[in-house]
Amino acid sequence: MDGTPPFDVERVRSSFDFVGQGRVATNNAASTQLPRELLQLYGELVPQYENVHRGQSDASVRMTARFEAAFDTIADWIGAPSRRTISIHRNTTEAINLVMYTLLTEFRDGDNVVTTMMEHNSDYVPWYALCHEILPRFGRRVECRIARFDHETGALDLDDLAELVDDRTKLVCCTGASNFLGTKPPLPEVRRIADSSGYPQPNGERRSWLLVDGAQLVPSALVDVEALDVEFLAFSFHKFLAPLGVGVLYAKEHLRRGSLPFLYGGDMIAEGRVTPDRVEYNALPWKFSAGTPNILGVVASAEALRLTIDLTGADPGRTWFRSADRIPRAISGAAMARIAAHTTSLTQRAIASLSTIPRLRVFGVPQGEVRAPLVAFTVEGLSPFAIAAALNTRGVESRAGCHCATLAHHDLGLDPPASCRLSFYLYNSTDDVDRAVEAVRAAVAVTTG
Ligand SMILES: Cc1ncc(COP(=O)(O)O)c(C=O)c1O
Repeated sequence: MDGTPPFDVERVRSSFDFVGQGRVATNNAASTQLPRELLQLYGELVPQYENVHRGQSDASVRMTARFEAAFDTIADWIGAPSRRTISIHRNTTEAINLVMYTLLTEFRDGDNVVTTMMEHNSDYVPWYALCHEILPRFGRRVECRIARFDHETGALDLDDLAELVDDRTKLVCCTGASNFLGTKPPLPEVRRIADSSGYPQPNGERRSWLLVDGAQLVPSALVDVEALDVEFLAFSFHKFLAPLGVGVLYAKEHLRRGSLPFLYGGDMIAEGRVTPDRVEYNALPWKFSAGTPNILGVVASAEALRLTIDLTGADPGRTWFRSADRIPRAISGAAMARIAAHTTSLTQRAIASLSTIPRLRVFGVPQGEVRAPLVAFTVEGLSPFAIAAALNTRGVESRAGCHCATLAHHDLGLDPPASCRLSFYLYNSTDDVDRAVEAVRAAVAVTTG
């Protein structure tokens, strides 16, 4: 024992108003719920609100300092060396589009990009568009290759990935955790494969760059971008307790320096350095911050990280929410370990119970093995949409559809390409799981007669 009290889900739940409405909030892979503390913070920040980098008032100076400090908190949380590696976007999708648009000019004729069959559309469609629609208009041929996964276990086929990656692979794009199969691909192995390609990058490196879609990974585990040695990591705060509208891209500083900007306009230029003939860009990270950003969303997102420590009880000796102190890795690691332990036990409980329901098929990672805190399933003879609707009548929130993992649904031969998914977060209780599974059992029983 490390001396910290056990994870107390009832205490966590007391911070969430949705609980009082009797909701079983089990669609967390789409978006998580907002803790009351963040709503209160919003309410307090609104009367103090001023734009950042655009005013000399005390209010603007204070808001700018808070906004900029939020970048430090976010950078620290993912093990990034400095705020210069962080840019803020609307969501993971926009962050990945940044990578695509800023590399657009860098692909050479005959290059390829390798992604996987288990990607969310936001980590496939941009690469599809690049290779099939955008670059052909410039007369450049770049191939998009897709690595397979094992249909039984959901494991990424590393041999296939290694076959696809060659000395023309500029970029490998891989999810950190599948939002459908639950698979957490072994990123060090993926890194090793990308490293061995020998692709000559313009900065002299001879390896493929690696983009990790962290949308499901970052809210469920502590990620260290330096240890993983990824070039790019994208994730969204609306899946990590914070309000909607904040996505993050980590990118190595030398790549940001050497890259063209993504969006052009105000604030991303060096103060006063715009003439008819020459435009100079702002210092990092503001070179990638065109236009007025989601200021309160960014501040609240950093506070969501601090609050996570308090909610999980990872550091009972003090309060991190609203503190200005840098968070040690040991503390953020302890908080994420607690979230992982709790949500893993809920997920395993759900899979064990669901597996006893006749005609029900769970997709992806086998029971008992490491997976993201979600479970997707189908029931023979029953539409996933009908299951989700039946669950809803019992107050259980699920999601039916392809969850934007459209490639994987087609690859598994699902027709229609749909499954029903339950996904868990730190405020879910075992009672939530049991209510959800019983609702599925009841829906199946009705159709069985
Ligand atoms: C694995 C994965 N990648 C990307 C996304 C897209 O995230 P966003 O909707 O925030 O752009 C999601 C959202 O569900 C996801 O689960």
